[in-house]
Amino acid sequence: MNRTELHMALRTLPFLDARRELGDRAVELSADPPKLLVWHPEAIDWLFRHDRELSHPGSRSLRPLFGDDSLLWADGPRHEAYREVLGPPLRGRRLTGYHGLIAGAVHEAVDALRPGTVVSLADWTRRLTLRIVGRLVLGRVDDAVLDSFSVWIDRALGSRSRTLAHRFLRGGLPRSGPDLDAALVRCARDGADPDSRGTGRDTGCPATLASLMLDADGPLADLGDGELRDQIVSLLFAGHETTASAAAWTLYRLDHDAALRRDVTDELADVPDDVPASARTPLLDAVIQEALRLAPPVTVAENRTLPHDTDLLGRTLPAGTTLTTSIYLAHRQPDAFPDPLRFDPSRFLGRRPAPRHYLPFGGGTRRCLGAQLGQLEIRMIAAALLRRRDWHCVNPRAGVLRLRGHAMAPSARLRMKVTGRRE
Ligand code: HEM
Repeated sequence: MNRTELHMALRTLPFLDARRELGDRAVELSADPPKLLVWHPEAIDWLFRHDRELSHPGSRSLRPLFGDDSLLWADGPRHEAYREVLGPPLRGRRLTGYHGLIAGAVHEAVDALRPGTVVSLADWTRRLTLRIVGRLVLGRVDDAVLDSFSVWIDRALGSRSRTLAHRFLRGGLPRSGPDLDAALVRCARDGADPDSRGTGRDTGCPATLASLMLDADGPLADLGDGELRDQIVSLLFAGHETTASAAAWTLYRLDHDAALRRDVTDELADVPDDVPASARTPLLDAVIQEALRLAPPVTVAENRTLPHDTDLLGRTLPAGTTLTTSIYLAHRQPDAFPDPLRFDPSRFLGRRPAPRHYLPFGGGTRRCLGAQLGQLEIRMIAAALLRRRDWHCVNPRAGVLRLRGHAMAPSARLRMKVTGRRE
């Protein structure tokens, strides 16, 4: 690892902010093997358009955590097969099948917030979003299993310094233990069993994501326990840390600006159902988009490696070059977002920036499979809290940008106090 890579790993945000101030659009992280961090709009456009031809080797630190078979770094027919199985239930009309399950989990979490309760905002949203994605992926799942999953993720990625200590001093991030792996696989197979289905077809809910993978044929026929474990862990992780972080930032921003909060609450009064559609809550949606712009939970998209020499960024990049898109820096470019550090949801009212400028969910053939689900959860969480509780952040100064492992999450010290019931 050279000095630039080390600097980027140890002091990520200051390193990136300095690059922005210099007006750069790409930085070489390593010459051998060639590795670049890019945020030039043309490069982003090119990568997304040519995604199918590229390989996606995965991140050095996350790969051992989620396993070699994770769909996050699968390519070719296997990757396409996973997207064909998991994509359709997570968007459009089929996503509505999960509305009841999500609303149930959100109400349960909000109802448990009695006046006087003080919680860490990031921990509260993380626990809730893990419950939601846990039920979607596995069906009826014991809280103890999800708690063990959280303990493991916290041990590996709970703070940037812990992650770096594992990476540089302890030979890599710790893999989950055999007991947790076995429990996750057991839940997945039980949820897929027609006699004991969890969210199951017997209850009128759609099938679990695990059962869809287990029922698949073609490249995914007869999925073994090892590969199944890798997908469950990947979906639980990708599906909760990200959404939790975006939901916490959204709530923090709403707390920060009393007029904005009042306007969003008024907007929600006209849309009384539990599942507010984004088209009917444009202001809340704009707050969420702006929170995702300034604090993108995933700061870099997946690694993409060139199969042959390619003319890009005004030079010829050799075959084997890996390009990583900095979502954080793309979102802070003044030509696309004037006065880029200012929180201004009106940027998104009636407008949607081009994907080469605004890409919280990545793009190309790897675009986030849970983009619609994640945004739906954030809307439901914000709507339920604004309608049903009075609350405020007790120490808003703790709301500074920081990395938790690889994700941009508010500090666990940022606390929310519930002061009353509204319904
Ligand atoms: C606000 C919430 C979320 C954000 C900001 C987010 C962001 C991202 C980003 C940036 C990528 C990489 C895309 C690329 O490299 O082009 C990604 C991939 C992925 N996300 Fe999300 N995500 C969120 C929620 C979810 C949820 C709820 C799920 C699942 C249930 C999910 C599942 C995935 C999966 C499976 C991939 C890998 C896709 C592939 O490689 O084909 N994400 N996400």
